[in-house]
Amino acid sequence: MIPTLAWTPEGVRFIDQTKLPLEESYVLATSYDQVADVIVTMVVRGAPAIGVSAAYGVALGALKTQAQTAGAFAPEFDRICARLAGTRPTAVNLFWAIDRMKNLFAEQLAAGATISAIQENILAEAHAMYEEDIAACKTMGAFGGALLPDEGGVLTHCNAGALATCGYGTALGVIRSAVEQGKHIHVYADETRPFLQGARLTAWELMADGIPTTVLCDNMAASLMRAGKIKAVVVGADRIAANGDFANKIGTYNVAILAKEHGIPFYCAAPWSTIDMATPTGDAIPIEERAAVEVTHHGGKQLTPHGVGICNPAFDVTPASYTTAIITERGVLRAPYAESLREMELAAQAG
Ligand code: MRU
Repeated sequence: MIPTLAWTPEGVRFIDQTKLPLEESYVLATSYDQVADVIVTMVVRGAPAIGVSAAYGVALGALKTQAQTAGAFAPEFDRICARLAGTRPTAVNLFWAIDRMKNLFAEQLAAGATISAIQENILAEAHAMYEEDIAACKTMGAFGGALLPDEGGVLTHCNAGALATCGYGTALGVIRSAVEQGKHIHVYADETRPFLQGARLTAWELMADGIPTTVLCDNMAASLMRAGKIKAVVVGADRIAANGDFANKIGTYNVAILAKEHGIPFYCAAPWSTIDMATPTGDAIPIEERAAVEVTHHGGKQLTPHGVGICNPAFDVTPASYTTAIITERGVLRAPYAESLREMELAAQAG
């Protein structure tokens, strides 16, 4: 399995996704501050991977504290959480993971736990999130794999694969599972300007698995759809609002419109940690604006004239009406999503 991130006795080891596919190198983060930097610089990216990375960041912060008591550690714990929460605004998995750590810390504090017990329990919680993420990907993969056609082209946008999770992937997990189910899938990977997650990362990890893959420039999908080469689209999500609108990598909305126009099923695959019932619609999802240099330059080479205006929103929102189904580890949801999401949430709370 692709080692997106791994806990080691020295810290958290990340495969450097800014260097792939030409170089397979690793970055070791030995402090929570370094984990935050690794998230900001996109050494690690993808909503579920960001969430679990932040959890390990909190664990590193706890393990490195000089505080002798839980009470003395409390203000430092808040600073650690704030630093990690300030890295990227759109993927709700980041805040889900940090909130989970905050709840755990509050419980431990109330129970009078020692600092060493707190350190141990915070690390155990991060390990649990890591394992749960892989299990969720496998389960949603099995649900989603059954929805894909027995053969033909499946288009995906960005990288919602093993590299965006702790392993197996969400959208690419669905594709992996379909292939394991014996389906003959050919993946069309949008290159995904400007950061090229599709061209660099999706292509790299699917080739490692021997899954036939063709990279497309982002402006080619319509013509392939019209030619009948795309039988389904499957993408990931950074945040799914309570009404089913969802944020994903910029350009996802374009693909959704094209799929609808051509009568092609359009699936969104994400773990429950990506669902944000507190955000009513996609309009309320914060969209990260990234540095202009990602658009103006490529590989250190300038592409655009000096001083030209640049916009670089990292995500867009696809309205719920474009989505054929949302695939989660709890099952497959259909429209109306406000109802199906609420029902599945209530069913999970009821146990
Ligand atoms: O900016 P990125 O690379 O973190 O964006 C990633 C995506 O948009 C993914 O599709 C999303 O996080 C789902 S990953 C399973």
